[in-house]
Amino acid sequence: MPINKIKEATQLRSHRWFGPESLRAFGHRSRALQMGFSRRDYEGKPVIAILNTWSELSHCHSHFRERAQDVKRGIWQAGGFPVEIPVMSLAEVYQKPSTMMYRNLLSMETEEILRSYPIDGCVLMGGCDKTPPGLLMGALSMGLPTIFVPAGPMLRGNWHGKTLGSGSDVWKYWDELRAGNITKEDWHDIEEGIARSAGTCMTMGTASTMTGILETLGFTLPNASTIPAPDSNHPRMASDSGRRIVEMVWEDLTPKNILTWTSIENAIRVLMALGGSTNALIHLIAIAKRAGFELPLELFEKIGKTTPYLVNMRPAGKYLMEDFHYAGGLAALLQVMRPLLNIEAMTCTGKSLGENIKRFKVFNNDVIKPLDEPILAEGGLIILKGNLAPNGAVIKTSAASASLLKHKGKAIVFENYSDMERRLDDPELDVEPSSILVLRNSGPQGGPGMPEWGMLPIPKKLLKQGVRDMVRISDARMSGTSYGTCVLHVSPESWIGGPLALVKSGDIIELDAKKREINVLISHAELDKRRTVWRPQIKKFPRGYGQLFSQHVQQAHEGCDFDFLSGNAAVDEPEIH
Ligand code: FES
Repeated sequence: MPINKIKEATQLRSHRWFGPESLRAFGHRSRALQMGFSRRDYEGKPVIAILNTWSELSHCHSHFRERAQDVKRGIWQAGGFPVEIPVMSLAEVYQKPSTMMYRNLLSMETEEILRSYPIDGCVLMGGCDKTPPGLLMGALSMGLPTIFVPAGPMLRGNWHGKTLGSGSDVWKYWDELRAGNITKEDWHDIEEGIARSAGTCMTMGTASTMTGILETLGFTLPNASTIPAPDSNHPRMASDSGRRIVEMVWEDLTPKNILTWTSIENAIRVLMALGGSTNALIHLIAIAKRAGFELPLELFEKIGKTTPYLVNMRPAGKYLMEDFHYAGGLAALLQVMRPLLNIEAMTCTGKSLGENIKRFKVFNNDVIKPLDEPILAEGGLIILKGNLAPNGAVIKTSAASASLLKHKGKAIVFENYSDMERRLDDPELDVEPSSILVLRNSGPQGGPGMPEWGMLPIPKKLLKQGVRDMVRISDARMSGTSYGTCVLHVSPESWIGGPLALVKSGDIIELDAKKREINVLISHAELDKRRTVWRPQIKKFPRGYGQLFSQHVQQAHEGCDFDFLSGNAAVDEPEIH
């Protein structure tokens, strides 16, 4: 298809580096020649940065070195000049204290790399939880034509004839091991069978949710986000993305044409239909802010009320990402949701969302449910407020026990994660099935970075009694692969004196999901009294990035971006001297 070329070679951003007859441009050209490129390789061509989050500790992206070659093939073919640039690798599981602490650093690196080098457009290569939002936030702030190549989910896991799902089955079988229902050998076999290929977690965790959201926002080729990483469609999608980004540069199709209020509303709808990760709320708020939009938490619930939950995937449902893709994939889900979406939203293909999805259809109605036969009539995420969370908290009702959604119980408070680990399995712990476990100092600053501790383990003595769910409350996040009646993202966080800091073991807490309330049943006067004796903890970082993070990170309901990165104020282009 002919492209809508509106730019000339002399209007390319990189022309300022390579084009002029100047001393500085001499240096830029001679250094390209030094790397073995001939003038024909780059002259008059868009320079396309491939921002690659590969590393030898980034297990979900272990195929990205090869995949970058596939992207390059497409860029060369389309007449671009590809340059691969490694950027910070955020590997969930390995990186401590939390990958979330480094999402903003990846976004800063992305923005500044794109700004400071002769780059005309970019391909973002990510997938593992915090990489899609981190990369996109930076690219939005810079504003160059952008396309996203998702890592793709890994293959389903296997153990003793059973299918294993990332994360979800880890939590499940860990409880069974502690309850004495499986052996250590079983546990080791599960370890060997649960992650059998490159790619991201194949449940509806944060990676599957966020890559689906980036596709819905319009930053991937149609149906790219669900292709399993080892499927040969994946390298073909990568090279197609390489070809397309070159066209996007000539068309001057930038993120501000793609990320609009309309596409954000679509993304929230898809989050609800997927039964997606609670982490997406934080990321979407931060992404929207980079484009100048404020997303109140209540908007998620408002859109959720008119969006059915349609995709039958673990942790809340039955299937895994491979099943989802071969049932039609994300584009087929969008097609089912067509009446609910703003289908005129512009995408990276240069066409509307509606045009992109029209050829896709569903092949398995048990995986992607029809609109009139949803799993639930409403989205499965709700926002709670009350004296424990004046600025909001979130609970994933689709992954919670219905019987616990209205519940009153005695609090058992853990000061931090180490305290919880130390005391949780103590036979003397005064805990009963109706108790409410409270974990504090695990928020944006206290964690730091809100580690995914929100699905607190069930105490061993209750596991042995057959208890598998309890109400749990924290200012932490929860992995998208987790489940249970977990109240998360309590804001403001306890580390800075939010009400969670004032709760004592033995206090009665009431959760009423229907009323959207979470309260500790003590008087204002008592809360005020406790507040007067509360003292802030000492900052954990005397210097370095940790200190920058502590000083500037915003609270969960604000998206946890840095205050100085939010917004869409224009930053000047660097002068070429
Ligand atoms: Fe990378 Fe789950 S650990 S997506």
